[in-house]
Amino acid sequence: MPSMSYLERRGQLATYFDRTAADAWSRLTSDAPVGRIRATVRAGRDEMRRTLLDWLPADLRGRRLLDAGCGTGALAVEAARRGARVVAIDLSPTLIGLARSRAPRELGAGSVEFLSGDMLDPALGRFDHVVAMDSLIHYRAGDVVSAIAGLAQRTQKTLLFTFAPRTPALAVMHSVGRWFPRRSRAPAIEPVTEAAIWRRLAAEPSLGTWRATRTDRIASGFYVSQALELIAR
Ligand SMILES: C[S@@+](CC[C@H](N)C(=O)[O-])C[C@H]1O[C@@H](n2cnc3c(N)ncnc32)[C@H](O)[C@@H]1O
Repeated sequence: MPSMSYLERRGQLATYFDRTAADAWSRLTSDAPVGRIRATVRAGRDEMRRTLLDWLPADLRGRRLLDAGCGTGALAVEAARRGARVVAIDLSPTLIGLARSRAPRELGAGSVEFLSGDMLDPALGRFDHVVAMDSLIHYRAGDVVSAIAGLAQRTQKTLLFTFAPRTPALAVMHSVGRWFPRRSRAPAIEPVTEAAIWRRLAAEPSLGTWRATRTDRIASGFYVSQALELIAR
């Protein structure tokens, strides 16, 4: 059962990404011009997506992949181009609508099924790979690790996710973020130190058969995020 804090935050994120920020996300994830700060975020996000895709096998034919919190679907489409059968899910029906309209019709051997809902829904079935790019960064560390543990039960090969690393630079950025008017503010990001993530993953009994194999931090202007790879032993 998801915790109250997970459910509460999930509700805030659904409203935020489906209404408050849907237009901003549509623009950020397109080729449309953006301001200087957002351009650094776009560049950082492009690099993070490349990193996560690099960590997946080049040939994904026959593999089932979950893009957990897919937003407008860029990673899902790239994985499908490599042959994966992708399930791409997001809380926001608006972003899912955009993702569907942006996805190319021709994906070769691959496919993408776009769904709106919760990434933790067991009805999604089993996957070879799960990727959660920046979709768990707004949840408390305990909820992140529980979510990963839940996903791990349905994953055969690798689980890739990102967290917001707690660094002094990020603390400054967050305090700058607090100057923005409340109504346009995102639900807070929950930074966590790398050491705390390792500790919590190691303490999670149902992750005993999983091994953390690599990590990479991407910092580009106002974008800071750290990817982690877990492999089933
Ligand atoms: C920062 S955006 C990243 C989107 C996408 N992964 C990307 O990198 O472009 C986070 C996304 O995660 C989604 N999200 C957050 N919690 C979720 C959950 N429990 N289930 C499904 N989607 C979720 C949000 O709706 C939002 O679209």
